[in-house]
Amino acid sequence: MIKIVKKIVHLESLLSDVRSVKKKISLVPTMGNLHKGHLSLVEKAKKISDYVVVTIFVNPTQFVEGEDFANYPRTLDSDINLLSELDVDLLFVPEVIELYPTNDNTPTIEISNPELESIHCGKYRPGHFKGVATIVSKLFSIVQPNIALFGEKDYQQLLIIRSLVKNLLLPIEVVSAPTIREDSGLAMSSRNTYLSKSEFRQAPKLYKCIKETIKMIRNGDKDYEQLEKEANIFLEQAGFKVEYYSICDSKTLAPAGDDDAIVLVAAWLGKTRLIDNARVHTYD
Ligand code: PAF
Repeated sequence: MIKIVKKIVHLESLLSDVRSVKKKISLVPTMGNLHKGHLSLVEKAKKISDYVVVTIFVNPTQFVEGEDFANYPRTLDSDINLLSELDVDLLFVPEVIELYPTNDNTPTIEISNPELESIHCGKYRPGHFKGVATIVSKLFSIVQPNIALFGEKDYQQLLIIRSLVKNLLLPIEVVSAPTIREDSGLAMSSRNTYLSKSEFRQAPKLYKCIKETIKMIRNGDKDYEQLEKEANIFLEQAGFKVEYYSICDSKTLAPAGDDDAIVLVAAWLGKTRLIDNARVHTYD
Protein backbone atom coordinates (compact mmCIF):
# COMPACT_ATOMS: atom_id res chain seq x y z
CA MET A 1 0.00 0.00 0.00
CA ILE A 2 1.20 3.50 -0.82
CA LYS A 3 2.70 5.44 2.10
CA ILE A 4 1.99 9.15 2.09
CA VAL A 5 4.25 11.53 4.00
CA LYS A 6 4.42 15.29 4.35
CA LYS A 7 7.53 15.74 6.47
CA ILE A 8 11.14 15.30 5.47
CA VAL A 9 12.01 13.48 8.73
CA HIS A 10 9.38 10.82 8.01
CA LEU A 11 10.50 10.46 4.43
CA GLU A 12 14.13 10.10 5.48
CA SER A 13 13.37 7.50 8.10
CA LEU A 14 11.37 5.36 5.65
CA LEU A 15 14.05 5.69 2.99
CA SER A 16 16.91 4.80 5.28
CA ASP A 17 15.16 1.46 5.93
CA VAL A 18 14.79 0.95 2.20
CA ARG A 19 18.43 1.81 1.60
CA SER A 20 19.62 -0.53 4.35
CA VAL A 21 18.28 -3.51 2.37
CA LYS A 22 20.03 -2.17 -0.74
CA LYS A 23 16.93 -1.49 -2.74
CA LYS A 24 17.30 0.68 -5.80
CA ILE A 25 15.26 3.86 -5.28
CA SER A 26 13.73 5.86 -8.10
CA LEU A 27 12.23 9.31 -7.90
CA VAL A 28 9.46 10.77 -10.06
CA PRO A 29 9.10 14.48 -9.20
CA THR A 30 5.77 16.01 -10.24
CA MET A 31 3.56 18.99 -9.54
CA GLY A 32 0.47 16.77 -9.45
CA ASN A 33 -2.69 16.84 -11.56
CA LEU A 34 -1.33 13.59 -12.88
CA HIS A 35 -2.01 12.38 -16.41
CA LYS A 36 -0.85 9.46 -18.52
CA GLY A 37 2.51 11.15 -19.13
CA HIS A 38 3.31 11.09 -15.41
CA LEU A 39 1.95 7.57 -15.09
CA SER A 40 4.24 6.35 -17.86
CA LEU A 41 7.21 7.68 -15.85
CA VAL A 42 5.96 5.81 -12.80
CA GLU A 43 5.52 2.62 -14.81
CA LYS A 44 9.04 2.94 -16.17
CA ALA A 45 10.36 3.63 -12.65
CA LYS A 46 8.72 0.45 -11.42
CA LYS A 47 10.44 -1.56 -14.12
CA ILE A 48 13.93 -0.25 -13.46
CA SER A 49 14.01 0.11 -9.67
CA ASP A 50 12.81 -1.63 -6.51
CA TYR A 51 11.19 1.27 -4.71
CA VAL A 52 9.34 4.16 -6.33
CA VAL A 53 9.03 7.58 -4.70
CA VAL A 54 6.69 10.12 -6.28
CA THR A 55 6.62 13.73 -5.14
CA ILE A 56 3.76 16.14 -5.64
CA PHE A 57 4.76 19.73 -4.98
CA VAL A 58 3.65 22.85 -6.81
CA ASN A 59 6.97 24.64 -6.59
CA PRO A 60 6.53 28.41 -6.15
CA THR A 61 10.04 29.35 -7.26
CA GLN A 62 9.62 28.10 -10.80
CA PHE A 63 6.59 30.28 -11.48
CA VAL A 64 7.47 33.65 -12.86
CA GLU A 65 5.58 36.72 -11.72
CA GLY A 66 2.09 36.85 -13.21
CA GLU A 67 2.01 33.09 -13.92
CA ASP A 68 -0.52 30.51 -12.73
CA PHE A 69 0.97 29.40 -9.38
CA ALA A 70 -2.21 30.17 -7.41
CA ASN A 71 -4.50 28.55 -9.98
CA TYR A 72 -2.31 25.59 -10.89
CA PRO A 73 -4.63 22.55 -10.78
CA ARG A 74 -4.32 20.76 -7.44
CA THR A 75 -6.05 17.36 -7.55
CA LEU A 76 -4.47 15.44 -4.70
CA ASP A 77 -7.27 12.93 -4.06
CA SER A 78 -7.46 11.68 -7.61
CA ASP A 79 -3.64 11.73 -7.88
CA ILE A 80 -3.43 9.48 -4.82
CA ASN A 81 -5.94 7.06 -6.38
CA LEU A 82 -3.94 6.86 -9.60
CA LEU A 83 -0.67 6.29 -7.76
CA SER A 84 -2.26 3.66 -5.50
CA GLU A 85 -3.50 1.79 -8.56
CA LEU A 86 0.07 1.70 -9.83
CA ASP A 87 1.27 0.48 -6.46
CA VAL A 88 3.73 3.32 -5.89
CA ASP A 89 5.67 2.81 -2.67
CA LEU A 90 5.93 6.32 -1.30
CA LEU A 91 4.29 9.64 -2.03
CA PHE A 92 5.85 12.82 -0.65
CA VAL A 93 3.48 15.81 -0.49
CA PRO A 94 5.27 18.53 1.46
CA GLU A 95 3.96 21.99 2.30
CA VAL A 96 5.94 24.94 0.91
CA ILE A 97 7.42 25.71 4.36
CA GLU A 98 8.91 22.19 4.51
CA LEU A 99 11.01 22.71 1.38
CA TYR A 100 11.61 26.45 1.78
CA PRO A 101 12.00 26.60 5.59
CA THR A 102 13.44 30.10 5.73
CA ASN A 103 10.41 31.30 3.83
CA ASP A 104 12.79 32.71 1.28
CA ASN A 105 11.22 31.64 -1.95
CA THR A 106 14.05 32.74 -4.17
CA PRO A 107 15.77 30.07 -6.22
CA THR A 108 19.16 29.29 -4.74
CA ILE A 109 20.73 27.14 -7.39
CA GLU A 110 22.73 28.83 -10.10
CA ILE A 111 22.54 26.92 -13.32
CA SER A 112 25.94 25.86 -14.47
CA ASN A 113 24.91 26.26 -18.07
CA PRO A 114 23.61 29.85 -18.35
CA GLU A 115 23.39 29.57 -22.11
CA LEU A 116 20.81 26.82 -21.82
CA GLU A 117 18.89 28.71 -19.16
CA SER A 118 18.44 31.92 -21.12
CA ILE A 119 17.12 30.65 -24.43
CA HIS A 120 13.73 29.31 -25.57
CA CYS A 121 11.49 28.84 -22.48
CA GLY A 122 14.16 30.53 -20.33
CA LYS A 123 13.88 33.71 -22.40
CA TYR A 124 10.12 33.94 -21.85
CA ARG A 125 10.13 32.64 -18.28
CA PRO A 126 13.20 34.31 -16.74
CA GLY A 127 14.22 32.55 -13.53
CA HIS A 128 12.00 29.54 -14.23
CA PHE A 129 14.83 27.07 -14.70
CA LYS A 130 16.67 28.33 -11.61
CA GLY A 131 13.47 27.52 -9.70
CA VAL A 132 13.31 24.06 -11.27
CA ALA A 133 16.99 23.39 -10.57
CA THR A 134 16.54 24.56 -6.97
CA ILE A 135 13.61 22.30 -6.19
CA VAL A 136 15.01 19.31 -8.06
CA SER A 137 18.31 19.67 -6.16
CA LYS A 138 16.41 19.80 -2.86
CA LEU A 139 14.41 16.68 -3.78
CA PHE A 140 17.58 14.91 -4.86
CA SER A 141 19.25 15.73 -1.56
CA ILE A 142 16.26 14.57 0.51
CA VAL A 143 15.41 11.41 -1.42
CA GLN A 144 18.93 10.51 -2.66
CA PRO A 145 17.50 8.38 -5.43
CA ASN A 146 19.55 6.05 -7.59
CA ILE A 147 17.40 6.99 -10.58
CA ALA A 148 15.30 10.08 -11.36
CA LEU A 149 12.75 10.19 -14.16
CA PHE A 150 11.60 13.16 -16.24
CA GLY A 151 9.39 13.53 -19.30
CA GLU A 152 10.80 14.47 -22.69
CA LYS A 153 7.97 16.93 -23.24
CA ASP A 154 9.90 19.37 -21.00
CA TYR A 155 12.96 18.85 -23.13
CA GLN A 156 14.89 21.94 -22.07
CA GLN A 157 14.21 21.11 -18.41
CA LEU A 158 15.51 17.59 -19.02
CA LEU A 159 18.80 18.93 -20.46
CA ILE A 160 19.20 21.37 -17.56
CA ILE A 161 18.66 18.59 -15.01
CA ARG A 162 21.12 16.33 -16.81
CA SER A 163 23.67 19.12 -16.76
CA LEU A 164 22.99 19.79 -13.05
CA VAL A 165 23.57 16.14 -12.17
CA LYS A 166 26.76 16.04 -14.21
CA ASN A 167 28.16 19.26 -12.77
CA LEU A 168 27.37 18.43 -9.16
CA LEU A 169 28.72 14.89 -9.69
CA LEU A 170 25.53 13.44 -8.26
CA PRO A 171 25.35 9.64 -8.30
CA ILE A 172 21.93 9.72 -9.94
CA GLU A 173 20.95 8.24 -13.26
CA VAL A 174 18.58 10.57 -15.11
CA VAL A 175 16.13 8.57 -17.20
CA SER A 176 13.66 10.14 -19.61
CA ALA A 177 10.45 8.89 -21.15
CA PRO A 178 8.70 9.95 -24.35
CA THR A 179 5.86 12.44 -24.48
CA ILE A 180 2.45 10.81 -24.18
CA ARG A 181 -0.15 12.20 -26.57
CA GLU A 182 -3.90 12.30 -26.94
CA ASP A 183 -5.22 10.42 -30.01
CA SER A 184 -5.30 13.84 -31.68
CA GLY A 185 -1.53 14.20 -31.21
CA LEU A 186 -1.81 16.87 -28.50
CA ALA A 187 0.94 16.36 -25.92
CA MET A 188 -0.53 15.57 -22.52
CA SER A 189 0.04 18.29 -19.96
CA SER A 190 -1.47 19.28 -16.63
CA ARG A 191 -2.15 22.70 -18.14
CA ASN A 192 -4.38 21.20 -20.89
CA THR A 193 -7.21 21.45 -18.37
CA TYR A 194 -7.12 25.22 -18.99
CA LEU A 195 -8.14 24.72 -22.64
CA SER A 196 -11.74 25.36 -23.61
CA LYS A 197 -13.50 22.68 -25.68
CA SER A 198 -12.83 24.50 -28.93
CA GLU A 199 -9.19 25.20 -27.98
CA PHE A 200 -8.77 21.52 -27.17
CA ARG A 201 -9.81 20.74 -30.75
CA GLN A 202 -7.47 23.43 -32.10
CA ALA A 203 -4.43 22.55 -29.99
CA PRO A 204 -3.29 19.42 -31.92
CA LYS A 205 -2.27 21.76 -34.76
CA LEU A 206 0.88 22.46 -32.79
CA TYR A 207 2.09 18.90 -33.20
CA LYS A 208 0.78 18.76 -36.75
CA CYS A 209 3.02 21.73 -37.53
CA ILE A 210 6.06 20.07 -35.93
CA LYS A 211 5.43 16.92 -37.99
CA GLU A 212 5.20 18.99 -41.16
CA THR A 213 8.52 20.72 -40.40
CA ILE A 214 10.14 17.35 -39.77
CA LYS A 215 8.77 15.98 -43.01
CA MET A 216 10.26 18.92 -44.92
CA ILE A 217 13.66 18.48 -43.27
CA ARG A 218 13.66 14.77 -43.97
CA ASN A 219 12.83 15.55 -47.58
CA GLY A 220 16.05 17.53 -47.74
CA ASP A 221 14.96 21.08 -46.90
CA LYS A 222 17.82 22.72 -44.99
CA ASP A 223 16.59 26.28 -44.89
CA TYR A 224 15.69 26.10 -41.22
CA GLU A 225 15.03 29.82 -40.87
CA GLN A 226 12.47 29.69 -43.65
CA LEU A 227 10.86 26.57 -42.17
CA GLU A 228 10.61 28.32 -38.81
CA LYS A 229 9.01 31.35 -40.48
CA GLU A 230 6.46 29.18 -42.29
CA ALA A 231 5.62 27.35 -39.07
CA ASN A 232 5.10 30.67 -37.28
CA ILE A 233 2.72 31.83 -40.01
CA PHE A 234 0.80 28.54 -39.95
CA LEU A 235 0.40 28.63 -36.18
CA GLU A 236 -0.52 32.32 -35.99
CA GLN A 237 -3.17 31.71 -38.65
CA ALA A 238 -4.45 28.78 -36.62
CA GLY A 239 -4.98 31.11 -33.63
CA PHE A 240 -1.77 30.53 -31.63
CA LYS A 241 0.54 33.25 -30.28
CA VAL A 242 3.95 31.76 -30.86
CA GLU A 243 6.72 32.47 -28.36
CA TYR A 244 9.36 30.52 -30.22
CA TYR A 245 9.53 27.85 -32.88
CA SER A 246 13.07 26.59 -33.22
CA ILE A 247 14.86 23.90 -35.08
CA CYS A 248 17.86 23.28 -32.88
CA ASP A 249 20.65 20.96 -31.93
CA SER A 250 19.21 18.40 -29.54
CA LYS A 251 22.24 18.50 -27.23
CA THR A 252 22.92 22.22 -26.95
CA LEU A 253 19.61 23.73 -28.17
CA ALA A 254 21.70 26.13 -30.29
CA PRO A 255 20.57 26.55 -33.92
CA ALA A 256 20.65 23.14 -35.59
CA GLY A 257 23.44 21.84 -37.75
CA ASP A 258 23.10 18.77 -39.88
CA ASP A 259 22.53 16.05 -37.36
CA ASP A 260 20.34 15.21 -34.42
CA ALA A 261 18.06 18.21 -34.61
CA ILE A 262 14.94 18.78 -32.56
CA VAL A 263 11.97 21.05 -33.19
CA LEU A 264 10.97 22.93 -30.05
CA VAL A 265 7.92 25.14 -29.72
CA ALA A 266 6.08 27.21 -27.12
CA ALA A 267 2.85 28.92 -28.06
CA TRP A 268 -0.20 30.34 -26.36
CA LEU A 269 -3.70 29.26 -27.23
CA GLY A 270 -5.98 31.68 -25.44
CA LYS A 271 -4.83 31.65 -21.82
CA THR A 272 -2.94 28.37 -22.08
CA ARG A 273 0.77 28.12 -22.74
CA LEU A 274 1.59 24.92 -24.62
CA ILE A 275 5.01 23.47 -25.29
CA ASP A 276 5.94 20.55 -27.49
CA ASN A 277 8.89 19.07 -29.36
CA ALA A 278 10.00 16.19 -31.56
CA ARG A 279 13.38 14.93 -32.69
CA VAL A 280 13.87 15.20 -36.42
CA HIS A 281 15.55 11.89 -37.07
CA THR A 282 14.22 9.56 -34.42
CA TYR A 283 10.59 10.66 -34.57
CA ASP A 284 8.21 8.32 -36.47
O1 PAF B 1 8.18 19.03 -14.67
C1 PAF B 1 7.63 19.34 -13.60
O2 PAF B 1 6.51 18.96 -13.28
C2 PAF B 1 8.38 20.24 -12.63
O3 PAF B 1 9.12 21.20 -13.31
C3 PAF B 1 9.27 19.46 -11.65
C4 PAF B 1 10.39 18.72 -12.35
C5 PAF B 1 8.42 18.48 -10.85
C6 PAF B 1 9.93 20.42 -10.66
O4 PAF B 1 8.98 21.12 -9.91
